[in-house]
Amino acid sequence: MIQKTILVILAIMALSQSGYSQKKAATEAEINQKVEALLQKMTLEEKIGQLNQYTGDWEVTGPVTNSGNKVEDVRQGKIGSMLNVRGVKHTRALQEAAMQSRLKIPLLFGQDVIHGYRVTFPIPLAEAASWDLDIIEKSARIAATEASASGIHWTFAPMVDVARDPRWGRVMEGAGEDTYLGCLIAKARVKGFQGKGLGNLDAVMACAKHFAAYGAAIGGRDYNSVDMGLRTLWEVYLPPFKAAVDAGAATFMNSFNDINGIPATGNSYIQRDILKGKWGFKGFVVSDWGSIGEMIQHGYVKDNYEAAEAAIKAGSDMDMESRSYINNLSKLVKEGKVKEDLINDAVKRILYKKFELGLFDNPYRFSDEKRERQTLNKPEFLDAARDVARKSIVLLKNENQLLPLSKELKSVALIGPLVKSEKDMQGFWSIDWGKEDHLISLFEGMKNQAGKTRLLYAKGCEISDTSRAGFTEALKAASEAEVVVMAMGEKYDMSGEAKSRANIHLPGVQEELIRAIQATGKPVVVLLMAGRPLVFNWTADHVPAIVYTWWLGSQAGNAIADVLYGNYNPSGKLPMTFPRSEGQIPIYYNYFNTGRPAQNDQDTHYRSGYIDMQKSPRFAFGYGLSYTTFEYGDLKLSADKMTGNEKISVSFTLRNTGKTAGEEVAQLYLRDMVAQPVRPVKELKAFQKVLLKPGESKTITFTIDKEKLSFYNDNLEWITQPGEFKIMIGGSSDGTKLEQSFSLVD
Ligand code: GLC
Repeated sequence: MIQKTILVILAIMALSQSGYSQKKAATEAEINQKVEALLQKMTLEEKIGQLNQYTGDWEVTGPVTNSGNKVEDVRQGKIGSMLNVRGVKHTRALQEAAMQSRLKIPLLFGQDVIHGYRVTFPIPLAEAASWDLDIIEKSARIAATEASASGIHWTFAPMVDVARDPRWGRVMEGAGEDTYLGCLIAKARVKGFQGKGLGNLDAVMACAKHFAAYGAAIGGRDYNSVDMGLRTLWEVYLPPFKAAVDAGAATFMNSFNDINGIPATGNSYIQRDILKGKWGFKGFVVSDWGSIGEMIQHGYVKDNYEAAEAAIKAGSDMDMESRSYINNLSKLVKEGKVKEDLINDAVKRILYKKFELGLFDNPYRFSDEKRERQTLNKPEFLDAARDVARKSIVLLKNENQLLPLSKELKSVALIGPLVKSEKDMQGFWSIDWGKEDHLISLFEGMKNQAGKTRLLYAKGCEISDTSRAGFTEALKAASEAEVVVMAMGEKYDMSGEAKSRANIHLPGVQEELIRAIQATGKPVVVLLMAGRPLVFNWTADHVPAIVYTWWLGSQAGNAIADVLYGNYNPSGKLPMTFPRSEGQIPIYYNYFNTGRPAQNDQDTHYRSGYIDMQKSPRFAFGYGLSYTTFEYGDLKLSADKMTGNEKISVSFTLRNTGKTAGEEVAQLYLRDMVAQPVRPVKELKAFQKVLLKPGESKTITFTIDKEKLSFYNDNLEWITQPGEFKIMIGGSSDGTKLEQSFSLVD
């Protein structure tokens, strides 16, 4: 009898499962049917209206063109989407205007929800330093939960541009220099934003940007040209975008730069051949702000008429702010320059998403004032922001275990231009909530935990002016304290869009102030708050404790105090190489060996390096310290040869050899010793973040398969070549502890 029951249950489960997948497939077919039916009713002008996106006035994220009456345009179906419209009240009002249009097609509302909406999380580069994919996904999930409750359907994130040049201000917005880490973070962020799938009330459309290779702008100058071989494009810059497609990203945004002379927004190789062709992307592509019209400045087209033609043919579906489509597409169709099918394809991609979001069933489903009030700024979101912030902090130096600070200290002097700053803690691409916001400064965070310790304060200097007038007061504060903690770095808008810097040293007279305070002989801790790697050689050489805190968001001060007092043992690892000088840039860990590799920093005799500076970086990719120490040992490979589709498992022991529990990011790098074309001296291929108690050890296992050995040859074929491979394992790209080789036989 029991057996029969089990069979019946299994049958019901199978039916329901197939029913579910049929239901899901039906949903896709159903939506496509609805899209086709609606498209048949649309005039050419109404179709073009869906491809047109204007900005609202709540945020300014590009050069604003004020023209006409946007609400009236919405009523006439001339706008398909708006960005920078904040809050349920305003999105509802504009949606009501859209419902007065002939076909009542709802608007899509987009916003740069890059690292939080109402609660600000650490900037994406800081989160990347956590190497913790779960908290990165959670951060995006919370951002989506808040934004969707505030009428937003679509975030222009994640930015997945690999970036090897810290002069480029937008490094703050991405995941750093490594393709492998970048792919995993792209997937985590897309999953975080889209949650259980579009149509859920707490899901927003993700937007992988900026397609493509925007981070390779020559000289780190924003919007500048990109000039690279196709192999580098495919191997280094495209994979995070492919990871976003595989994770189901609903939309893409193209980039301002040209790639080898062809602006991305007019580049059918990347948008049609690769994205919509080879990768089968079904979503839609929005141009970056005005980039369609900017093809005129590029010198790629003569006017907006030609720009519209080039862009729609190249696969740019929606025109953000350039007005090229709304003013020219109709004429292009009537003059036979553009087939209406191209417009139909773009419209269908956009309408599909509006149906998928449930906006045709209820255009106001994301515009519920009660839900907005109940969702934004929840205490648990602030707690999560504090946790993500702690885990993003990187300990760069800690001589004589100066950190963590003891609560028994009688006095601590807090000195520097960023000690009391709140706005700077938010970083670029954050939303300014003005007086209603409460950002925790370092000063407040220290006050919350200092207990009986007396906190002294002196600003000492400004972030970037040349006055030394504040030094005296700062020296006085230092003289009265047992320990000095300095908060130095960039203003919140010194990294970000259009914020490239030729000089990435600590700005102003900050390093002079550090030298003056260090000269007092007091123990000094320097906190560096910035959106990018900075150059601070004197500080790195002379100050005993240095902590890179990036821009950590709403809970910055509390998170930093958690680390300074040891409530949390810092575990971050650098997602970008830190140069000793701008002269070393571009500098990254996965370089080619060359025919004359310098054997060490002193080796300059006919070697690849500099005669006036070390070749090595100041701090390497993957580097970061802890309050405890870790030991790597017992490296074992399941085989020393790999044939066919076999895999090799790599295991080793990681032990906490210190007195404090701590997390280590154990990293596995691979080198293909001989290959044509040549391969980098090392490439990150696996990592695991492990929490260990004092004395505890754990066996960690990674699997090496052929995919990890593969690369593009000059014909852009994804291949492997037989030969020797070297495995390197450790807690930093320049600090591998274990090495062993194996060979790929075929
Ligand atoms: C900006 C940025 C892009 C952003 C868009 C909308 O220029 O390049 O990342 O999403 O415009 O604000």
